[in-house]
Amino acid sequence: MSGCPMANEQTLSDEQIKALLAAARTARSRAYAPYSHFAVGAAVLCADGRIFSGANVENAAYPQGWCAECSALAAMISAGGRTVTAALIVGGPEGAEEIPCTPCGGCRQKLFEFAAGGDMDVYVLSGEGKDAAHRPLRLRDLLPRAFGPSSLQCREKM
Ligand code: THU
Repeated sequence: MSGCPMANEQTLSDEQIKALLAAARTARSRAYAPYSHFAVGAAVLCADGRIFSGANVENAAYPQGWCAECSALAAMISAGGRTVTAALIVGGPEGAEEIPCTPCGGCRQKLFEFAAGGDMDVYVLSGEGKDAAHRPLRLRDLLPRAFGPSSLQCREKM
């Protein structure tokens, strides 16, 4: 797997990846990114099989904008979903080819909140040229020693 030493073996079917990719690309095409001109789309596969997607939404008051992953998770939660099996992210300059786009630090944390069994495959564009494909990274590699729901357990027992 040249060009992407962290990429892991694919755990989803080709059909599932195709469906996530289509949803993320459609969302990306709808991104609201008039300031960065960097359009991102994210799709999450819910444990019940449904796919939710979203785009980045920027704001004239720059820090008020939010990421595509956040939109996709909000769509899932609003529809009653609670667990994400896998996520796929596509991004790049508006109107141009996708480039490798890993989730930002804040989004790694947001994804971790809903990770099935504390982990998740995060598919991003990896490799180069003819080897380029959407390949899974493990959330636990992207966010080692994460602080998550179980970190609060001792507080909940009080
Ligand atoms: N962005 C995302 O949507 N997801 C990420 O994980 C990285 C960054 C967005 C935020 C902003 O609208 C644009 O990309 C440039 O940073």
